Amino acid sequence: MDKTAIVLDNIINRKSVREFTQEKVSHTDLELIVKAAMSAPSALNLQPWEFIVFDDEKTLEYMVDLHEYSKMFKTAQAGIVVCGNMDRTVETYRQLWVQDCSASTQNILLAIEALKLGGVWLGIYPIEERCQKLIEYFNLPDNIVPFSVVAIGHTLKEEEPKNKWDEKKIHWNKW
Ligand SMILES: Cc1cc2nc3c(=O)[nH]c(=O)nc-3n(C[C@H](O)[C@H](O)[C@H](O)COP(=O)(O)O)c2cc1C
Repeated sequence: MDKTAIVLDNIINRKSVREFTQEKVSHTDLELIVKAAMSAPSALNLQPWEFIVFDDEKTLEYMVDLHEYSKMFKTAQAGIVVCGNMDRTVETYRQLWVQDCSASTQNILLAIEALKLGGVWLGIYPIEERCQKLIEYFNLPDNIVPFSVVAIGHTLKEEEPKNKWDEKKIHWNKW
């Protein structure tokens, strides 16, 4: 496969994975994943992100009850909290940090797929209760807002990506 095909294949094959083996995720892989996260585009190139990378038992256990859709942490072996750093935003365009952190989170998922690992995005911001739980658990400073959590591990059983192709959603030249 040439480089373009590999990249497109990775994007199209990405899928959420919620069941993992007991094998740990190496720190080399976790660092590569964060490198991908930091490669995302951002408004004014402000890069308003910070990452809490965790693989300790206590935190993995805490995440299981973070909210009603976080049970994949019963088997996940690592996770990344993507946070927005409000000190790296400008007043006029402040809300664009959400898009920046979204792009960064998607890059995490693509890196996970490329490394033949599995993972899933957990929505945090702007749900107040979820944000608060992470702020308290990690004792986050005032300028740091938790945005998403990604659960990571070695896939238990290979899953097929969903086919989301829908020609009706393309509006050529006019609505
Ligand atoms: C903003 C956002 C929040 C999500 N939150 C959760 C979540 O809390 N728990 C979960 O299991 N999946 C969560 N997902 C994953 C979606 O359920 C998943 O992406 C969707 O079903 C499409 O499946 P796919 O990722 O395999 O294409 C979230 C995805 C996004 C983009």
